Amino acid sequence: MFKNLLPLTLILFFTQGTTYAFDYNINRKYDVTRAFLEVNERRIYGFIKDFSSYRTRFHESADGIRAAKDLYDSWCALTDHRSDIECELIPHKSTPQSSVAIHIKGSTDKHIILGGHLDSINTNSTDPNAPAPGAGDNASGIGVLNELINILMIKNYRPKHNISLYAYAAEEVGLLGSEDIASKAASNDKKILGVLQIDGANYKAGPKSIVLINDYTNYEQNKFLGMLIDNYLRVSWGYDKCGYACSDHYSWHRQGYKTSFPFESNLDVENPFIHTENDTLAVTSFSATHAALFTKLALSYLYEMDK
Ligand code: BES
Ligand code: ZN
Repeated sequence: MFKNLLPLTLILFFTQGTTYAFDYNINRKYDVTRAFLEVNERRIYGFIKDFSSYRTRFHESADGIRAAKDLYDSWCALTDHRSDIECELIPHKSTPQSSVAIHIKGSTDKHIILGGHLDSINTNSTDPNAPAPGAGDNASGIGVLNELINILMIKNYRPKHNISLYAYAAEEVGLLGSEDIASKAASNDKKILGVLQIDGANYKAGPKSIVLINDYTNYEQNKFLGMLIDNYLRVSWGYDKCGYACSDHYSWHRQGYKTSFPFESNLDVENPFIHTENDTLAVTSFSATHAALFTKLALSYLYEMDK
């Protein structure tokens, strides 16, 4: 009977992504605190406002397809002056919407990945053109990544490892963009030090400012995020569970990569307007304060992983 398990074992072995034992520590305080000075809440706000003003970013709508192309154009423009940066529009077989990425070349063969989904959905309607501004879910997360790019350009940051920032297509209908990207990374045996998911970054509710999702994520890397919060942000944080494959971190986790998903609130007090036509900036009182905090978390993660 064990003979029959062999092919399955081989398949599992060959499809697991390569991760590395990583010595999680905090020793770039000078660079991180200097980079924090560049976090611009008004710029984050402006991005969320623009990105949530498409009627919808639903993966099968013309607006949703255009939103991805526009994001690609604007990320290319931000990084155009750097020959060590590639911007990429990534088509998928599973959806007409493309994912968007920028890749900053390092001098090793290792990668650090940050991502969030660019699409939105209105679950009260079956019409692909039903209004779905998705300001919180997840223009806020893409706003964090967009701010990260702005700051890395201002600091003229030259990474040691390869850094990729992804805006995934079609998360809301089954993690389609990230599933394609993560499974290709694993089949190319990409060496990934860690993955961070940003999905829901601007809605503050309840006593915890940051909640680390502890299912389908990596225990050690989650502990490291806790250290980053205590050292750099000094806000209250905790753990919570989705209980199912609730976002793109799952696509990476499934391929054997180390991933974490810091979320904006505990799930029992989550933003009640997500997936509706009312997921707008009004929900967060026209502020991007919480997203600025998440930008600092993502910045500290990037700097302290990149060594
Ligand atoms: N941002 C949500 C997931 C989420 C919601 C996490 C609330 C934590 C608290 C995400 O965009 C989403 O809606 N995911 C889908 C799952 C997907 C596989 C269709 C969901 O939760 O229904
Ligand atoms: Zn989401």
